Amino acid sequence: MEIINKDIDQYAAQHSSEENELLKQINRDTHAKVMMPRMLSGHLQGRVLSMISHMIKPKRILEIGTYTGYSALCLAEGLSVEGKLITIDVNEELETRVRGYFAAANLTDKIDYLIGNAATIIPTLTGEFDLVFIDADKEQYSKYYDLVIDKVKPGGIILADNVLWSGKVLDAKPDKDTRAIVEFNNKIQADARVENVLLPIRDGIMMIRKLSL
Ligand SMILES: C[S@@+](CC[C@H](N)C(=O)[O-])C[C@H]1O[C@@H](n2cnc3c(N)ncnc32)[C@H](O)[C@@H]1O
Repeated sequence: MEIINKDIDQYAAQHSSEENELLKQINRDTHAKVMMPRMLSGHLQGRVLSMISHMIKPKRILEIGTYTGYSALCLAEGLSVEGKLITIDVNEELETRVRGYFAAANLTDKIDYLIGNAATIIPTLTGEFDLVFIDADKEQYSKYYDLVIDKVKPGGIILADNVLWSGKVLDAKPDKDTRAIVEFNNKIQADARVENVLLPIRDGIMMIRKLSL
C-alpha cells in the first residue's frame, strides 16, 4: 500500500528544497548499483530529517542503520559546530562506498561509522545523544529503543523509520516484521517517559520526545 498518493508525494518533493549534488549522486548510485535501493530515505524524507536536525542543532546524533549513508548526511547537516554523528551498520560490503561518500562531504572527522551489530555496539557507547534515528532491522526496533532511551538527553528526540510498514500495521494477520513494528508502536504509545507523534511521511516516522521527568 502506498501511504501517500503518488502524485501528492511528488508534489511535496517538488515543493521541498532540493537535495545537494552528493545526495543526488548517492540516490542515483544506490538505485543503479546497490541491492534494495528502496531502503534509502530519499529526497522528501531526507529533507525532513535535515530540517528536524537543523531545529535541534544536535551535539551528538546516533543513527542505527547507515545503508549507503544518505540519511546520515541529511542528519549531519544540522549538527552544531562541535557536533558528531555516530552511525552503525552491520553490512561491511558497503563500507568502502559509504566512507567515500563521507569523505566527499568532508565529514570524515564529524562522522564515526561503526561496522557491526547495533545491539552489540550500542551498549558500548558512552555519553548522551540529542537525536537518534532508528532505521535498521525491524524485529529489533523495541530492543534498540530500550538500549537508547537512557542515553537520550531529556528533551532529546528519537525518530524511528518505517513504522507504517507499507500499511501492513493494519493487517489482521501480520507477518513477523509487521508484528515487531506494531509492538514497537504500541510500546511507544504506552511509554509515560515520552511524547510521540506518528508522522505519515513516506513509510511512517515515529517522532518521540523524551520528557524531563
Ligand atoms: C533501511 S536501511 C537504512 C537506510 C538509511 N538509514 C537511509 O535512510 O538511507 C537498514 C540498514 O540496517 C542495517 N542493519 C540491519 N540489521 C542490522 C543490525 N543488527 N545492526 C546494524 N545494522 C543493521 C542494514 O544492513 C541496512 O543497511
